[in-house]
Amino acid sequence: KTGMFTYDPGFLATASCESKITFIDGDQGLLYYRGYPIEQLAEHSDYLETCYLLLNGELPTPQQKADFDYMVMRHNMLHDQIHNFFRGFRRDAHPMAVMVGVVGALSAFYHDSLDINDPHHRKVAAFRLIAKVPTIAAQAYRYNKGLPLSYPKAGLSYAENFLHMMFSTPVSEYKVNPVLAKALDRIFILHADHEQNASTSTVRLSGSSGANPFACIAAGIACLWGPSHGGANEAVLKMLDEIGSVENVPAFMEGVKNKTHKLMGFGHRVYKNMDPRAAIMKQTCDEVLAELGLHNDPKFKLAMELEKIALNDPYFIERKLYPNVDFYSGIVLSAIGIPVSMFTPIFALARTVGWISHWTEMIADPGMKIGRPRQLYTGAGRRDYVQLSERK
Ligand code: SDX
Repeated sequence: KTGMFTYDPGFLATASCESKITFIDGDQGLLYYRGYPIEQLAEHSDYLETCYLLLNGELPTPQQKADFDYMVMRHNMLHDQIHNFFRGFRRDAHPMAVMVGVVGALSAFYHDSLDINDPHHRKVAAFRLIAKVPTIAAQAYRYNKGLPLSYPKAGLSYAENFLHMMFSTPVSEYKVNPVLAKALDRIFILHADHEQNASTSTVRLSGSSGANPFACIAAGIACLWGPSHGGANEAVLKMLDEIGSVENVPAFMEGVKNKTHKLMGFGHRVYKNMDPRAAIMKQTCDEVLAELGLHNDPKFKLAMELEKIALNDPYFIERKLYPNVDFYSGIVLSAIGIPVSMFTPIFALARTVGWISHWTEMIADPGMKIGRPRQLYTGAGRRDYVQLSERK
């Protein structure tokens, strides 16, 4: 028994760490941030309030929320010299490559003034990262498109500012549609944290050596990039493009069963039931497409057909394969006008608060030790060196 939840001894033996941040029940499809069900946060909260909750363990009072929002908005500019880093990349560099590089480079601007053992310094590092990662992501997109780098704007919400920094130009201010901004904010909430997933474990392992938080978050971004993890939403859109139309679904599904390809956006290491985020994402998808008059969007219809077929197919049922958070997110982002290349950067942007919350929880633990996964050695037995001249 740990707190409210009881685990079977077999599970306890496999657990790599303890945490108070996020609870997942993969069999029942439950996800709680600090005890609050994701469905309630997606409906009633906003992303910055969820950031406060993940970082501090409690929902903020009105004053705490106002102060937190102000602090994040106050740190969202980049040191002007950081803009030079973008110019070091080829124009066609993937935005995730740029994010890994530029977020890691923040170490050169803030690392030596940071004492990771000082709670206040840890808080400032968290503010800086939550505030600056959207600015970095937006600039990576603009640099890729040959647009002038942009700046955040006062008076906009976190999601509105991201859209503004992505799409406003000196000659045309991007008009933020509040329905789309709210949908994007909800997508940020759904991606904010997810327990010990691959990228969060990467951040914790990096942080356990005492590396600075900027370098640790850069490591998390690098891990998230993979198509089996954060890159899946980009892969779902590519998969839908390849399938093209509902008529091609049976042949595609045959390929899945013959293991020539996977059904991207399906399956999960933990969820053996519907990923609760996928259900909320599907509803958000519905709302956004209706708002934009795209409810006949062929990609959305194809995705729903794929989901319907898979959920009734013994191959998927036997393997407990259900839609995960990435299955519908790409369609929503596309409808909002976000290019495919920016899907994973948006996942990284939203997950930054989860990474920094886990880093903070670990660093604040006086009993923290450096991570050192052990292995089973299955290589050659002991043997003596053979001189080069004697080798055949
Ligand atoms: C994320 O960990 C997290 O929390 C991650 C995440 C987060 O918020 O941080 O939730 C975000 O990464 C979501 C997952 C996004 N990835 C994808 O959608 C890529 C497609 N999914 C797969 O690559 C796969 O499902 C994984 C990587 C997610 C999980 O892989 P596992 O653990 O190997 O899956 P499994 O053990 O449940 O597989 C059981 C069977 C196997 O077949 P058999 O050997 O039994 O015949 O199901 C098959 C698998 O090959 N299978 C799939 C499949 N996923 C698993 N077959 C077809 N399509 C798939 N998507």
